[in-house]
Amino acid sequence: MKNSSIFDCCVIPLSKIHNRAGNITIVEGIKNLPFDVNRVYYLYDIPGGEARGGHAHKALIQLIVAASGSFDVLLDDGTNKKIVKLNRPDYGLLVVPGIWRELFEFSSGAICLVLVSTKYEESDYIRIYDDYLNVKNA
Ligand code: TYD
Repeated sequence: MKNSSIFDCCVIPLSKIHNRAGNITIVEGIKNLPFDVNRVYYLYDIPGGEARGGHAHKALIQLIVAASGSFDVLLDDGTNKKIVKLNRPDYGLLVVPGIWRELFEFSSGAICLVLVSTKYEESDYIRIYDDYLNVKNA
């Protein structure tokens, strides 16, 4: 994770099948993503002005999708930062390991869907920014 870069994170198009009754997007683990999906979670009912995230992962890879509404994702690798706006359910932001991320500017009713490579392990988190910088600069 020491050498991970925000430039390895990218927005990728997902499938979209449209008909007059609406749209469906299908994500099939290793077929559509560079990892197998072992866990799914979603954030919702996020009060206006709140931020989520505020951590880095040592090993897990994830795809973040604005399943409804919109929000911004700050990506930070300790050197470079960028903000990615997500506002379409047929696009996902791939976040590689070792990237500090913060989610904010949630629209009313936004749903943040996250597809994850591994099961939940608190030991995979770095939750303090100074600790993150220490690892990156070690
Ligand atoms: P956290 O990852 O801190 O949320 P966010 O980064 O979006 O603000 O998780 C919030 C709480 O939920 C925390 O107590 C850990 C727990 N949690 C699980 O038990 N399993 C999971 O898969 C996730 C993502 C979180």
